[in-house]
Amino acid sequence: GLPSRVTIWEVGPRDGLQNEKSIVPVDLKLEFLDRLGEAGLSVLEATSFVSPKWIPQLADAEELLGKLSRRPGVRYPVLVPNERGLQRALAAGCPDIAIFASATETFAERNLNSSLDKQFEMFTPVVTGARDAGVNVRGYLSMCFGDPWEGPVRYDQVVAVGKRLLELGCWQLSLGDTIGVATAGQVEGLLAAFADAGIGPERLAVHFHDTYGQALTNTLTALRFGVSTVDSSAGGLGGCPYAESATGNLATEDLLWTLEGLGVETGVNLDELVATSAWFAEKLGRPSPSRVVNALAG
Ligand code: HMG
Ligand code: MG
Repeated sequence: GLPSRVTIWEVGPRDGLQNEKSIVPVDLKLEFLDRLGEAGLSVLEATSFVSPKWIPQLADAEELLGKLSRRPGVRYPVLVPNERGLQRALAAGCPDIAIFASATETFAERNLNSSLDKQFEMFTPVVTGARDAGVNVRGYLSMCFGDPWEGPVRYDQVVAVGKRLLELGCWQLSLGDTIGVATAGQVEGLLAAFADAGIGPERLAVHFHDTYGQALTNTLTALRFGVSTVDSSAGGLGGCPYAESATGNLATEDLLWTLEGLGVETGVNLDELVATSAWFAEKLGRPSPSRVVNALAG
């Protein structure tokens, strides 16, 4: 069966904007966040405390969080790769952070200048320090299905790295199809492999990019498996600048259309969200790739 309620983890302001060619002015980011909260999204991944040399698009993280008016009941998680990032997140008063690991050797090098093993030396003090400060840590795992340099990724390899993230102290593990190549059979296979390792769907979230148009099918497959947190981005913004052939995330509107049809609750107002994505696409100067946004935005 399907969960009766799904938590949408909105990643547009982070995953979307990290991949924009232009740098979006901080006031426009703030208005985007405000409108997303107004539409009823309860988790807004706001920005990243990464190296500004690596992701100049999010170099304004301090200014953004300093000016942000946090809505009651809304969480604003941020990405943190290392201790420097944790210090910045703590100084900004963030109660929710996420570390982001790679399931493959090559992407650990490309995205973190690290390796499959060495990334954990970077994450361990982050998780320890965060938990000492009462901060929740989510764990992302990238390249769970396919890697542009290494090809298909074995389930046991993904499970092994994912298990390390949970054992380190992450409260949830988000399984990333960074380049959008996964198919539904692989989603079933990976979730079954996690279940065999004692990690059930209540600890997991899914994070699909839509490169091959499979993100919604893959998400539905995961929901039928009991997963009830789904990452998506308003208007389908997104991608990862350090992964070849990564395009936008599953569009939040496409997800909502399906969930509403199935009677699954999210607390999000589709019309308000569509209006926000249409407005933001105009500001960015290019149409949203979301089919639902285009169908509904008059
Ligand atoms: P490095 O170059 O090996 O690190 O990068 P470094 O320690 O040599 O630092 C380089 C410079 O950055 C130094 O400055 C540091 O001080 C500074 P300099 O001395 O040259 O002036 N620096 C920082 N500044 C601010 N905040 C920090 C920070 N750290 C270092 N936290 C590093 C290593 C991990 C820093 C780098 O590789 C990095 O920032 N990577 C992040 C890449 C990224 O953000 N990728 C996108 C997010 S992941 C994603 O999108 C996937 C996901 O959506 C799931 C999925 O789809 O699969 C989550
Ligand atoms: Mg992503």
